Amino acid sequence: MSSCLSSLLDLKTLSVKTIEELFSFAQALKEKPQSIRQNGETVILAFFEASTRTRLSFESAAIRAGLGPLIFDGGLKTSLEKGESVEDSLCNMAAMDPKILVVRCSNSVQLQDLASKLKVPVVNAGWGTQGHPTQALLDQLTLRSKWKNLEGRKLLIIGDLKHSRVAASHLELAEKTGLKLAQCGPQDFLLSDSKVPRFEDLTEGLKWADAVMALRFQFERHDASISFSKDHYREQFGLNRSSLQNLKSDAWIMHPGPINHGIEMETEVLSDPRSIVLEQVRHGVYLREAVLRMTLGESL
Ligand code: NCD
Repeated sequence: MSSCLSSLLDLKTLSVKTIEELFSFAQALKEKPQSIRQNGETVILAFFEASTRTRLSFESAAIRAGLGPLIFDGGLKTSLEKGESVEDSLCNMAAMDPKILVVRCSNSVQLQDLASKLKVPVVNAGWGTQGHPTQALLDQLTLRSKWKNLEGRKLLIIGDLKHSRVAASHLELAEKTGLKLAQCGPQDFLLSDSKVPRFEDLTEGLKWADAVMALRFQFERHDASISFSKDHYREQFGLNRSSLQNLKSDAWIMHPGPINHGIEMETEVLSDPRSIVLEQVRHGVYLREAVLRMTLGESL
């Protein structure tokens, strides 16, 4: 029996059992498509911020499940241009009776309050710097497909953890799956008030890890006050053929995308046999399909 998901805003509130069900459901969907819902039901994908992978994989997931995706993409030529607020826009979308509202928005939106008022389940598809639950789930699903069990395995996250919603969700998820996390990057980028161990030196971190995830250098979340240059970052923390000689031969290389080629990762890394960057993208479709189906009460 599946635990039916309600809104999915973070991973703190999900039980270990529900996470395990999501992983198993996604794995089953990857192996064999399931029957398609045929009731003319819709899901609204409300993206108030830029996206490529997340939006398209939710859209693919919706189609695979038989839900018609209605896409609100970025806000150009919508009533946002007339001054309508994001909150009002979401209330109006919910009034159109979609089965689910998938939302990407900034920190300024009170998504939690809004979700408690709306009668439609809300799925967080990237909420400011607060969290990106389905990204962490698909990343750990990808690792689980390699290792079967995440417990005790070690993932090094490199880069701007302080501003990364992906990292924030990994911290929540690792508490449940038993994956061990460590962080590596310049001081300004690391979480200071967290139990996640730090590696100041990339070589040491890479030697420790069973998998490594480079995060995007998020230029849009920084002002001019960063104390190091892009060149410095690339030299100290960039993944390239040479730095990756310190990573175990059976470890995995990940990136949630979009990649800044030549900053956090050189293009050559994508052809390293240890790179599973596109497998992450592939798993994203099945994981999100499992989220949509479980939200509607389906089970394996
Ligand atoms: C991330 C995001 O938008 O949070 N990418 C993604 O969804 N695949 C990471 C990022 O923006 O760096």
